[in-house]
Amino acid sequence: MSPSARPFLRTLVAALAAAATVALAVGCGGGGGGDTAATDGPTIFADSGCANCHSFAAADANGRVGPDLDDSTLTEEEVVAKVRDGGGGMPSFGELSEAQLQALAEFVVGQRGR
Ligand code: HEC
Repeated sequence: MSPSARPFLRTLVAALAAAATVALAVGCGGGGGGDTAATDGPTIFADSGCANCHSFAAADANGRVGPDLDDSTLTEEEVVAKVRDGGGGMPSFGELSEAQLQALAEFVVGQRGR
C-alpha cells in the first residue's frame, strides 16, 4: 500500500467509528428509546435496546442491568405498564404505541422461561 493512502484510511476508520457510536446511542433505549416503527414483539425488543439491560433467551439477550426476563412473573398488563412508565432503574418507553406495547408484552410473557 502506498504511504499516501494511509491518511485517507485513517479518516475512513474514524468516520466509521463515529457512525457506529451514533448507531449505538440511537439503539440504546437509555432514557427512553423505543424509536421504532416495528409492530412485532421481537423486533420492538431489539430496536428498543431491551437487550442492553435484560437477559432474555428468546431474544438472545444477555444484559445484566435489569432482572432476567425469563424469571419474571409479571402479567402482560404489568409488563405493558412497566415498559410504558418505567421506574426503579427501568427507563420508560412511553413513545411506543399501545399496539407496540401489547406486542412486546405478549413476546416477553409468551416466550419467557424457554
Ligand atoms: C437502562 C436499562 C434498561 C433498559 C434499556 C430496559 N430495562 Fe427493563 N428494567 C430495568 C431495570 C433496572 C428493571 C428493574 C426495575 C424495578 O425493579 O422496579 C427493569 C424491569 C423490567 C421489567 C419487570 C421485570 C420484573 O419481573 O420485575 C420488565 C418486564 C422489563 N424491565 C422489560 C423491559 C423491556 C421490554 C425493555 C425494552 C423495551 C426494557 N425492559 C428495557 C432496566 C432496563
